[in-house]
Amino acid sequence: MRLISTSEYDHKTMQLARPIYDKQKRVLLAAGRSIHPKYLERIVAMDIRYLFVEDSISEGITLEELMDMPTWIDAIEIVQKQFDLATSNKSLEVKSLKQIVSKLLEEVEKRKAIVLIPTTSIAEDLRRNAHAVNVTLLALQVSKKLKINKLQLRDLAIGGLLHDIGKALTTDDEQHPQQGFNYLRKEREVSLLSAHVAYQHHEQIDGQGFPRGLTGKEFHEFAQICGICNLYENMISRENIPPHMAMELIMTKSGSGFEPEIVQAFINSIPSYTPGTKVVLNNGEVAIVTRIKSLMQRPTVRYLSTNEEVSLEQDYTLLITGMLEEK
Ligand SMILES: [Fe+2]
Repeated sequence: MRLISTSEYDHKTMQLARPIYDKQKRVLLAAGRSIHPKYLERIVAMDIRYLFVEDSISEGITLEELMDMPTWIDAIEIVQKQFDLATSNKSLEVKSLKQIVSKLLEEVEKRKAIVLIPTTSIAEDLRRNAHAVNVTLLALQVSKKLKINKLQLRDLAIGGLLHDIGKALTTDDEQHPQQGFNYLRKEREVSLLSAHVAYQHHEQIDGQGFPRGLTGKEFHEFAQICGICNLYENMISRENIPPHMAMELIMTKSGSGFEPEIVQAFINSIPSYTPGTKVVLNNGEVAIVTRIKSLMQRPTVRYLSTNEEVSLEQDYTLLITGMLEEK
């Protein structure tokens, strides 16, 4: 299985490997079949930009790092519910939030790396909440490299899922962290730490963030984790920036946006080139990423010319110079 942009889809050689959902979270197209060109037009019209497909190139790529789709959709639904509750000024359903956090934790714990399902692979109405779920998954993954106890991890996850809850309460972007905090701190079952994640997720350690312009250690570690994941997820989803470029930008934030340890943990936890990505190497070979063993930035690749598999963990002279641009 591999992830392609919708424009690369060829119904003669590719089958859909994961279903496509509409905004009611119903399966629009089931997995296992090729997409009729007529349907493809509809998908393009829905602005769905990515598809998981199976073809001859993707053979042997299991993408076991891919987040489980039903859990992902459930999580999106639960976040959506909380936004609706906040909009009508009701209390949150913290119990269902906690249940989904347990499932997300399980998903992250059982995988070495995590491949996000792009928010642009589902209907537009679901994307804001899909973003929150992805930010949370990234945050949990990054936390593995930092010493954070399990109980606190749950607070971080709740904060991640609800980091933009303020957007349900105000249309003023500058105000949403404060509004979110005001709302969450009143929820008895939401920890103050989770509320602070929402409050601080747009801060920077150099004081250039908002709403308060916090500096250094005032910017809580958990909020920094949420902030860095939020920045990255927005780049890869909303701004359509390739993951390796988004990673470069994240690196420039070391010591200015976030503490260097947080940036380092991010680099060590999130792969720039996920399995199924076609890449160009410094020896001129075009290859497909097949697996990630233990080093996130040194995957195993298979040359398209010879089918030979090489591990970049073994051969340090090999470098990925970029993604293969198609069509
Ligand atoms: Fe935000």
